[in-house]
Amino acid sequence: MQPNKSLSLDEIDLSDIDFWSLPPEEREGAFQTLREEDPIRFFQEMSLAELGLPQGPGYWALTRHADIQEASRTPEVFCSSKGATSIPDLPPQMNEFFGGMINLDDPRHGSQRRIISRGFTPRALGNLEAGVKSRAVAIIDKVIERGECEFVKDIAAPLPLEIICEMMGIPESQTEMVFNNTNTILGLGDPEFVVEGSNPIMAGMQAGSELAALMKEMAADRRANPKEDFTTALIHAVGDEEILTDEELASFFILLVVAGNETTRNAISHGMLALDADDSQRALWASDFEKHAPTAVEEIVRWASPVIFMRRTLTRDYELSGVQLREGDKAVLWYNSGNRDAAVFENPHEFEVTRTPNEHVGFGGPGPHFCLGANLARREIKVMFEQILTRLPDLRITAPPERLRSNFIHGIKRMPCEYTPGPKLG
Ligand code: HEM
Repeated sequence: MQPNKSLSLDEIDLSDIDFWSLPPEEREGAFQTLREEDPIRFFQEMSLAELGLPQGPGYWALTRHADIQEASRTPEVFCSSKGATSIPDLPPQMNEFFGGMINLDDPRHGSQRRIISRGFTPRALGNLEAGVKSRAVAIIDKVIERGECEFVKDIAAPLPLEIICEMMGIPESQTEMVFNNTNTILGLGDPEFVVEGSNPIMAGMQAGSELAALMKEMAADRRANPKEDFTTALIHAVGDEEILTDEELASFFILLVVAGNETTRNAISHGMLALDADDSQRALWASDFEKHAPTAVEEIVRWASPVIFMRRTLTRDYELSGVQLREGDKAVLWYNSGNRDAAVFENPHEFEVTRTPNEHVGFGGPGPHFCLGANLARREIKVMFEQILTRLPDLRITAPPERLRSNFIHGIKRMPCEYTPGPKLG
């Protein structure tokens, strides 16, 4: 891909939702201009007048890899508890549902992360392992005889969603409800998910409350009938272990389905798109799948940058790379841009399955909020591409992808594909 620097520095407005509908080359070009000409640039916030909310004070856009890393590893200055997933401050009633640990600082963050880490130990992940493989086989079985399918819905989306539901012990009858509500929460800027003119905050709240209700029901059930699942582990204390309250459990679940679902799905879709665009990279990976899988998976996450940004707020005055930031200022860590920084990545706009080193910030920078699900995501991506490269080796994307209009999730909504039909395995 060749970045297109058609916008001058003054024409770049990251707060304009239309910026996020520009072709990828133009957006890449704009971020390259920011990195080169004004890597810590101040932007006005988007107007929220339509929602009856005051306009926020603006934010610093951190677009270089080194500055993103410094902010991530200095959480006592760049804090998360004023809101990490939204540039505007959310109305307090939304924090009820969206106030999981991603929006907390120590000591509360550390204590929640310790409890939740029980579900991500090598042993817990080992237990999910067999499920990841057999589910991936079944997903391909469902479409392999047809010779064509919709890549996102049929291939990329089901695996992460099913694994999270399996982890939490959610019955299969509820998977679709979970899927629809996460789409709404992450698609709040896209007219397909929130009809233009309707209130995205209300839509987000409604989706959040449906997920929270499901979790509260599950908690009540597991108290009466403890099972071998993660939900039970989070609400049942063994000895003097800490546990989550029902509200914390509901917020955590929303974080989990949102953080673990759409991210991995989009990594798989963007990875497929990149392999489709470059036969030599596809052939190279297919020539020795196991050997190249570790670097290829990291490169897919760098390339996709499924989470575009996280926000921090300054707890005190701080000088970052010569720019004076003030207490209370907002700083936005543009991971997509850090992942294309030529100071760190050779040929940053090339997709290279053998890229080493690859210190990308796709899972966040180094620090307390580094993605808790990174190893699970890596596993899911690897297993899915093993299926694709061995069972659908000539898969082709047959129309341009329909992209999500969002400044937060680098999403692909739909992408048709074709391949030579093959036999089911199951
Ligand atoms: C390719 C897939 C994924 C990407 C790109 C991704 C990206 C991220 C990023 C950038 C953060 C950092 C947040 C921050 O700095 O404030 C994060 C945090 C988190 N992720 Fe992921 N994620 C992925 C998959 C998953 C999966 C599969 C799960 C769980 C099943 C998960 C669970 C979490 C949780 C719980 C946090 C919050 C950690 C904390 O605040 O301490 N993620 N993720």
